[in-house]
Amino acid sequence: MTDYEKILPPVDGKYHWLVTGAGGFIGSHLTEALLSIGQKVTGLDNFSTGYQHNIDMAVKASGHPENFAFTEGSINDSEICNRVMNGIDYVLHHAAFVSVPASMKDPAKCFDDNASGFMNILEAARSNGVRKVVYATSSAVYGDDETMPKVESSTGKSLSPYALTKYINELCAEFYTRVYGLECTGLRYFNVFGVRQDPKGAYAAVIPKWISAVTSGEIPVIYGDGKQSRDFCAVQNVVKANILAAMSPDSSGRVFNIGCGVETTLNELLAKIYAVFSPGHEVKAVYESPREGDILHSSASIEYAREILKYEPSVYLSDGLEAMKQ
Ligand SMILES: NC(=O)c1ccc[n+]([C@@H]2O[C@H](COP(=O)([O-])OP(=O)(O)OC[C@H]3O[C@@H](n4cnc5c(N)ncnc54)[C@H](O)[C@@H]3O)[C@@H](O)[C@H]2O)c1
Repeated sequence: MTDYEKILPPVDGKYHWLVTGAGGFIGSHLTEALLSIGQKVTGLDNFSTGYQHNIDMAVKASGHPENFAFTEGSINDSEICNRVMNGIDYVLHHAAFVSVPASMKDPAKCFDDNASGFMNILEAARSNGVRKVVYATSSAVYGDDETMPKVESSTGKSLSPYALTKYINELCAEFYTRVYGLECTGLRYFNVFGVRQDPKGAYAAVIPKWISAVTSGEIPVIYGDGKQSRDFCAVQNVVKANILAAMSPDSSGRVFNIGCGVETTLNELLAKIYAVFSPGHEVKAVYESPREGDILHSSASIEYAREILKYEPSVYLSDGLEAMKQ
C-alpha cells in the first residue's frame, strides 16, 4: 500500500482527472496520489516552473504508469485547454504564475496565466461537461486584512498582482457555478511544503531553501526577527483536501482555507529543520532586514473545511519534515 492510499478518502468510482501544473510541486503529488488509488490522470504543464522529473517520479511512485497521459502546453492556449478537457470528469487546476515578488515585476504576465488562463480552463470545462473544477487559490487573498486566524469571509485589499488574480479566480468560479452550473471549488492554501518543492531560485519557498542550506552547511537567512508566524501545511493534507472537495456534494461555488490551523514562528521552524536534518548541531541564522510586503502573521481557521469537506489534516509540521528526509 502506498503512503497516499493510507490517508486518502474514498473516491466513488474510476474517473478521468485533469491535473494542470502536473510538473509542479503540488500537481505532481496530486498526480501520484490519484494514480496510486487507481484513477486515470492527464497532466498538462508548460514547464515554466515545473519539471519533467517531478512527473517521472510521481508516476513511478504511484505504480500505475499505464493510467497516465501528458500534454506539454500552456493554459494560455484555449485550443489546448479544449483538447485536454475531452472526456475529463474532474479538473484539479494548479498551473499558475506562482511567485508574489515576480508578479510585482511582471503583472501582465501574471494576469495572462492566472486570469486569462483560468478563464480558458473554466470555458473548456464548461463546454466539455466536466463534473467539477477544484482550483488552487491562496492565503494571499487575505491581503491587508488583519483578522487572525484567517476566516474565509474576511478578506482585505490585495497586496500583489498574484493575490489579485487569485481573488479574481474566486469571483469567476463562483459566477460559473451560479450562472452556468459548472461546479467549482476553490482551496485557499497556506504555506504548503513537501518533497519535490523547488529549493532553487530567488523566489523559493522557505522550507526547501532552509533544508538545502542546513544540509549543505550554509547559514539560513531570516528576514526580520524570526517572530513572524505561518501555517505550514504538508502537501499530503492538500492532496486529501482536493479529493474531498471533488467528491463533496456541498463544496460547489465555495472557497475553503486549507492549512493545519497551527501557527509556527520562523525561529521555531528553523529549530525544527535543524532537529530533523542536522540533529545535534547548533541552530544558526543570519538576520536581515524584513522584506517589503511580507505580512507578520498568517494562520488558517480550518473550521469551514472541517464542517463542509470533513477535512482534517493528517500530517503536521514535524512529521512532514521527517517525511522529506527519505
Ligand atoms: N506552494 C504553496 O505554498 C502554495 C500556496 C498557495 C497557493 N498555491 C497555488 O498552488 C498551485 C501550485 O503551486 P506549486 O507550489 O505546486 O507551484 P509550482 O511552480 O511547483 O507549480 C506550478 C506549475 O504550473 C506550471 N505552469 C505555470 N504556468 C503555466 C501555464 N501557463 N500553462 C501550463 N502550466 C503552467 C508550472 O510549470 C509548474 O509546473 C498554484 O496555483 C499556486 O498559486 C501554492
